Amino acid sequence: MVFFSITRPVCYMLIGIPASGKTTWTRDYHPSIGYASTDKYIEQVAAEKGLSYNDVFKDTITEATSRMLDEVEEYVRNGTHFVWDQTNMSKKSRAKKLKMLTGYSVVAVVFNVPEEKELAKRLASRPGKTIPQYVLDSMIKSYEAPSLDEGFTKIMIAD
Ligand SMILES: Nc1ncnc2c1ncn2[C@@H]1O[C@H](COP(=O)(O)OP(=O)(O)O)[C@@H](O)[C@H]1O
Ligand SMILES: [Mg+2]
Repeated sequence: MVFFSITRPVCYMLIGIPASGKTTWTRDYHPSIGYASTDKYIEQVAAEKGLSYNDVFKDTITEATSRMLDEVEEYVRNGTHFVWDQTNMSKKSRAKKLKMLTGYSVVAVVFNVPEEKELAKRLASRPGKTIPQYVLDSMIKSYEAPSLDEGFTKIMIAD
């Protein structure tokens, strides 16, 4: 009799509003696995052009999304562990992503909304990257807590 040990690749799907600490968490805890995010390309273009995130956002978000999805497809083809660093606030937005992750253990990592003063401080710490208040409000309003029946293997709260 032959026994197979099957270990699935892991995707950490981050869930949290802007400035809740997602990218910091990734750098601190998973600095050397794959990383899917639209910000990666947007920040690269901004740096190359000597402009701010805000300056280039509108003209780069479509290309950034397409590049990110290509990267995810490559991770999935190769069975690479990776972090999916986007806000992922609604079940609908997560469902689209979970559908791509055949064969993965997907861990939801929830970032709580920092209290008002702390959030303001964190948002202010990123010059040139401003998230309009109405966008933040609508993200907070659209939040649906993740549940295992969406397809997550595990749900954890980031500290
Ligand atoms: N756990 C934390 N405690 C205090 N400050 C934090 C924490 N996580 C992130 N920050 C700070 O908050 C700001 C936003 O964090 P970031 O990781 O960029 O958030 P996100 O990726 O969710 O938009 C940064 O200035 C970062 O240094
Ligand atoms: Mg980030």
